[in-house]
Amino acid sequence: EHHYFRGKQLVGKKVLITAGPTYEPLDPVRFIGNHSSGKMGYALATAFYNQGADVVLVSGPTDLQIHNSAIQLIRVKTAAEMYQACMGHFPDTDIAVLAAAVADYSPAEVAPQKIKKTEEQFSLQLVKTRDILKTLGEIKKENQLLVGFALETNDEAANAQKKLVSKNADLIVLNSLRNTAAGFGVDTNQVIIYDKAGVVLESDVKLKEEIALDIIQVIHKKIV
Ligand code: CTP
Ligand code: CA
Repeated sequence: EHHYFRGKQLVGKKVLITAGPTYEPLDPVRFIGNHSSGKMGYALATAFYNQGADVVLVSGPTDLQIHNSAIQLIRVKTAAEMYQACMGHFPDTDIAVLAAAVADYSPAEVAPQKIKKTEEQFSLQLVKTRDILKTLGEIKKENQLLVGFALETNDEAANAQKKLVSKNADLIVLNSLRNTAAGFGVDTNQVIIYDKAGVVLESDVKLKEEIALDIIQVIHKKIV
C-alpha cells in the first residue's frame, strides 16, 4: 500500500508531534492521568516520517513503540516535562501537531512519602498546567504551522473553533467521542478538521493510520 513507502511530500520539513497522556505525580506511588493511548500521535509520527519529514515525537507514558530509529522519540511523564521538550524543539520546527492529552491540572505539591489514609475526607490542591498549544501559538512565526486537537462532549463545533482562535492554531482536529469507534484506546477514529474559515475535512470512521494521512494531506495543502 502506498502509505508504507517513504514519499517525498515533506522532505526537509521538521515536524514536532506530542502524543499520549501525561502523568502528574501526587506522591512516589500515585499520579493523575488519563486514558489516552497515544495511538493517534504515534500514527502521525510514522506517517510524517513516511512523507520524508524529520520527526520529533514527544510522548507521554504509553506502551507503544516506535520502530523507526530515524524518528526522534523523547519520552516524558508530566505536562511540565512535555512543555519543556516542546519549547526546546519548536524554534526550528516547520509543523507542530499537538495530539497529546495533556493534564490540565497537576497536584500543587508532590508528597515526598506515600500519602497515608488518615482522614475520612481528603482533598487535593491542583494547579493549572501550562498550555503548550497556546504558548506555541503565541510565539509562532509566519512560516510555522500549528495544529491542535480538541476533545469535546458538547457544542463540539463551536468549542473546537473557539480553541482554534484562542490558541492561535492554524488547524484544529476535532475528535468525535460520539462514535464508540473513535477516541481513547481504539484503533479507529473519526475527525472534523477546522481552519479559521470553517470545516476543511470531515472524515469517516477509519484507522488512525488513515486519519493521520488525511491530516497530513490537509497540512500539505496549507504549506504549499
Ligand atoms: N493542550 C496543550 N497543553 C495543555 C492542554 C492542552 O498543549 N496544558 C493542547 C492539546 O494537546 C490539544 C489542545 O490543546 O491539542 C486542546 O486540548 P483540550 O484538552 O481539548 O482543550 P483545553 O484547552 O485543555 O480545554 P478543555 O480541556 O477545558 O476543553
Ligand atoms: Ca484539556
